[in-house]
Amino acid sequence: MCGIIGYTGPLDAKKVVIQGLEQLEYRGYDSAGMALQTEDHHLLLMKEAGPVAVLKETSREAKVRSHCGIGHTRWATHGGVTDTNAHPHTAGKVTLIHNGIIENYHEIVERFHFREELVSETDTEVAAWLINHFYTHSEKGPAGNPYRALCEAVRTIKGSYAFCVLFEDIPGKVFAIRNVSPLVAAASSVGTFIASDLTALISYTREYFVVPENHVVVLEEERARLLDLEGHEVEPQMLEVNWDTEAAQKGGYPHFMIKEINEQPEALERTIKPRLNGGLPDFSEENIPDTLFTDCEKIDIVACGTAMYAGMVGKSLLEPMLKIPVSVNIASEFRYEQPLLDERTLTIIISQSGETIDTLAALRLAKEHGSRILSIVNVKGSTIARESDYVLYTHAGPEIAVASTKAYSVQLAVLYLLVCRMALVRNCMTEEEAQSFIEELLKTIPAIRQVLGDLTPCKHVSERMVSARNAFFIGRGLDYAFSLEGALKLKEISYIHAEAYAAGELKHGTIALIEKNTPVVAIATQEHIFAKTISNIREVKARDAYVILITKPGADVSSEVYDIHIELPELSDRFTVFPVAVILQLIAYYTSDGKGLNVDKPRNLAKSVTVE
Ligand code: F6R
Repeated sequence: MCGIIGYTGPLDAKKVVIQGLEQLEYRGYDSAGMALQTEDHHLLLMKEAGPVAVLKETSREAKVRSHCGIGHTRWATHGGVTDTNAHPHTAGKVTLIHNGIIENYHEIVERFHFREELVSETDTEVAAWLINHFYTHSEKGPAGNPYRALCEAVRTIKGSYAFCVLFEDIPGKVFAIRNVSPLVAAASSVGTFIASDLTALISYTREYFVVPENHVVVLEEERARLLDLEGHEVEPQMLEVNWDTEAAQKGGYPHFMIKEINEQPEALERTIKPRLNGGLPDFSEENIPDTLFTDCEKIDIVACGTAMYAGMVGKSLLEPMLKIPVSVNIASEFRYEQPLLDERTLTIIISQSGETIDTLAALRLAKEHGSRILSIVNVKGSTIARESDYVLYTHAGPEIAVASTKAYSVQLAVLYLLVCRMALVRNCMTEEEAQSFIEELLKTIPAIRQVLGDLTPCKHVSERMVSARNAFFIGRGLDYAFSLEGALKLKEISYIHAEAYAAGELKHGTIALIEKNTPVVAIATQEHIFAKTISNIREVKARDAYVILITKPGADVSSEVYDIHIELPELSDRFTVFPVAVILQLIAYYTSDGKGLNVDKPRNLAKSVTVE
């Protein structure tokens, strides 16, 4: 969740750290802080509750010459949002920043008698004291060995962590170690860097490595050394960034979210087209054997939030087509439900970041039970990608806005390709049927362009939405799966209470909440249940709801049942999710912007959820 940056090299460390924090702020923006080693070997600590801009402003005054430092942007877990709880934390000779959760911090406080030392309410400060303890009183050799102090500390700590540490008496070096929480490192001609993700590094270098779990990294001016817990030097596995700084910038748009909404046609092209061979999906480049699809008797899709809602669309297509059980699971519940998993289960993991801790834990559980893991991931080299048996990368490019948009569309696209390949190799579709399925899938790209070409209907809806306290999204079948994502998008960035309901279920309780002018976004794109959905819409209209109806073009519907009618570009029923998703994203975006909210960084949220 939190953002971490560490630097040593010839550049001005304050500038590098602040710039890194600005790039990483989407990971958490409750508070920000940095520690700089000055040229005369002092340590300067600055930290503030509030966004990075506050830290940037206060640090402007500090005329400091420093070439080595660490910085942190916080998403609060232990302890409130205060200056004192902001990172870095100093304990004796150790100054540290942390992303993750230390589960046994209470036990550590008692065992090492740290209670009197603590000034903050954070688990991080406990880790700082523990590392300082092993640095100043090593049980395994002479004191003052930073490598040994880190190794001894992580043998005591239970939980997830990425630590970046400065030792008071070791100038010019940054030490780091991680378990679960991500860290990437790079050495370049302008110094060495470590960060919780690549966005902070790409303006300096394209080559990087993912820090393996429980390995110590030592940033020196010209190289980043990697050591395992036995003290052996390890050669890092270098990777190359395949997107550029511009892709991670706003590119003239007022917010990342609207930029990312507009990037969907290209993201879909990048994700779909290279995987087509003779008009059919082909995963041989990704080394995914067809036996993965023919051998399974059951499919479990596991994900969180938007990714899970993409999974629900996948289930609605897969199950009727393959005629095998397909379940969609909330990752945070999955491992406590004692799922029935074996080697005949194919587990499909969906994650934009590839770092969501609940999803990762579910993956590990499924693997332990012998299930094969196919993941759909956006971030290359992320933990979920590395731990999966097979990976299908989505090619959305960096998604910075907290609310997921383009990542959802490309997750859907990969699911559609999967559905088609699986149906083909399991003889549930002929080659001709598969080709026309793919032709339809490709038509979604111009359909999205068409939606993006006329924003008036979505802006019109949002003008109405800004004053709403509650909103409902209804649909049946596939349309219900789309509604769930629409409601999530609206509530997370506009703070309007929004609920998605299967249209036929509304009258079993929820309809009591419909009052005069309550906005109801009704999605009715599925021909076989169209008439039934329209009857359900009439039920809310009869209670004076304000109905925003989304249908295919030329739908036979009386103007009595809606207040605003948005017609989609022509597509067959199974593919309407793509333009519908964009319409719902735009409604959420313009509503949030219309309310003057922080669209890209909604309150209480962070982009990558690396705590359970
Ligand atoms: C909502 C949103 C979240 C994520 C969820 C999973 O807009 O972005 O619901 O979809 O936190 O994240 P990933 O896909 O990174 O595993």
